[in-house]
Amino acid sequence: MPSIRLGQLPTPIDDASRLRDAIGMGSRLLIKRDDALPFGFGGNKVRKLTLVAADALASGATALITCGGVQSNHCRATASAAARLGLACHVVANGAAPERLTGNALLLQLLGARMTYVASREERNPGMQRVAEEVRASGGVPYVIPLGASNPLGALGFARGIGEVVRQTLVPDVIVHASSSGGTQAGLIAGCALYEVNARVVGISADDSVESIREEVLGICEGIEAMLDLAPGALGAAERFEADASFVGDGYGIPTDGSREAQALAATHDAFFVDHWYTAKALAAVIAYARRGEFRDGQTVMFWHTGGQVGLFA
Ligand SMILES: Cc1ncc(COP(=O)(O)O)c(C=O)c1O
Repeated sequence: MPSIRLGQLPTPIDDASRLRDAIGMGSRLLIKRDDALPFGFGGNKVRKLTLVAADALASGATALITCGGVQSNHCRATASAAARLGLACHVVANGAAPERLTGNALLLQLLGARMTYVASREERNPGMQRVAEEVRASGGVPYVIPLGASNPLGALGFARGIGEVVRQTLVPDVIVHASSSGGTQAGLIAGCALYEVNARVVGISADDSVESIREEVLGICEGIEAMLDLAPGALGAAERFEADASFVGDGYGIPTDGSREAQALAATHDAFFVDHWYTAKALAAVIAYARRGEFRDGQTVMFWHTGGQVGLFA
């Protein structure tokens, strides 16, 4: 699959031994530092965009169009890719135009993204179609990237991430990560199947129910099977799928006691930063599982840091 280079891979893997000791964890705790991916403030969307943006270029696109919340990490990563490739970027954001630009909203402006605001999540897809028509009408070639770049092509970027970890020779027994639109989780599951890595992949929901994440992840894995000419079910996604929505608390982006503790422990023990939308809740799950004795001593647990640190400045 053609891909483009956006920042330096592989991302580092840190041994969070002080955090592990602080939570009384008998297993090894590794942090896969996609937050430190050196492109446009990094994060999980960059891996997906290495393939999706390559496809956009191949199709002759002049403008990338995508959607998300006003503080979307994915939109910031897409606008970064567009800037690097010399393409226009249009973002359809649900919510009101912020009075003061902070965090990702500020970066979107600096990156030159053209913003369209819609009132609800449901209006994002029709909004992107309208913007695509406008681009066409003015002689451009639009390329619409779905929410989170979570389609089979984008998810393959994460399957490659498993290959990267194998080459780094630090193969985990359990991977825990923040999950939302399903592309990261589908890619990790596919990667484990394709590289024959026998690891549990546990997605910690940022907002959605386990059932809706499952539907997204299995659908994307089916698409990957079709793309790679594999038999339906060859990736074993239905059997491998594991998610937990019990760390969401009162809602998307609303801190919980667990996410506050995770954020403080990560910073004070191993100097990395997690946000209350995604990664602090996923790290809170790692901490809770360790305390409940759900990891076996001697296992290697990998917290896949999917980024989102810009959210600390929102
Ligand atoms: C920081 C961060 N972590 C995790 C996720 C979830 O990834 P996915 O949408 O691929 O499930 C997102 C999605 O926006 C994110 O921004």
